[in-house]
Amino acid sequence: MAGSAAVAEIGTGMRLIFLGPPGAGKGTQASLLLQRYGTVALASGDILREALRRGDPIGRQAHQYMESGALVPDEVITELLLQRLETLGKEQSFVLDGFPRTEAQARALDVWLARTGHKLIDRVVDFDISEEKIIRRLAGRRICGGCGASYHTENLPPRREGFCNRCGGELRMREDDRPETIRKRLAVYHKQTEPLLNFYRNQGKLRVVPGDLEIESQYEALLQLLKSEQMV
Ligand code: AP5
Repeated sequence: MAGSAAVAEIGTGMRLIFLGPPGAGKGTQASLLLQRYGTVALASGDILREALRRGDPIGRQAHQYMESGALVPDEVITELLLQRLETLGKEQSFVLDGFPRTEAQARALDVWLARTGHKLIDRVVDFDISEEKIIRRLAGRRICGGCGASYHTENLPPRREGFCNRCGGELRMREDDRPETIRKRLAVYHKQTEPLLNFYRNQGKLRVVPGDLEIESQYEALLQLLKSEQMV
């Protein structure tokens, strides 16, 4: 892992979207960029789960969709994410992890950034991975009930089995990581999110990074890409 080295310099206003199916490593890679470069990471799934933990009406509304593996309605998630983006500076670097996930969300984001005078999205990274690997990763994922930190039973185990390194909270499986819900999430990804690859390819922003490497190698491949684009 990259560890918690001092925050390094980053190109001004690098704005990235991480695409890719469930388990492709979007959250893991966003958190490595955060540790190394201090890049703000906005993860739509985490934002929804936080809202649910707090008992917000929006979290309760989203829960029925999330537990079945369906997407939360576009208006709900778009409003939530744009509210978060509004709190950032117009040039602030960020990674969007899990948003947008439909063409309607992508269009709403582009329109909002342009209308509010924010710097537009620079690059969209697709983490390409086989379904077999996805299933193994999600089956082994464990999440801290206290702070939401993510682990993997084999690939990223906690120091003390079953408990979070960060806050000591108990680790549990995510309710949507059950096999039948994973299958639904994958089907939803192919139908509703995969078309975004073409959407961003047509904008000339799409780049592909292998998602089936080990965590460190995947991170190296991502950094190599960002360096080749003069972003770090
Ligand atoms: P969300 O939380 O975004 O789930 P997801 O996209 O399905 O993504 P994951 O968190 O499962 O995968 P990831 O790619 O981040 O992988 P991770 O790094 O964690 O969304 C959940 C739900 O919220 C949705 O189903 C939907 O209902 C709703 N929602 C969210 N956004 C929405 C939107 N925009 N519109 C509508 N609804 C929305 O890694 C997974 C595991 O693998 C971890 O255990 C990790 O340690 C391990 N791992 C990671 N990388 C590697 C590697 N390279 N090698 C080995 N192990 C690895």
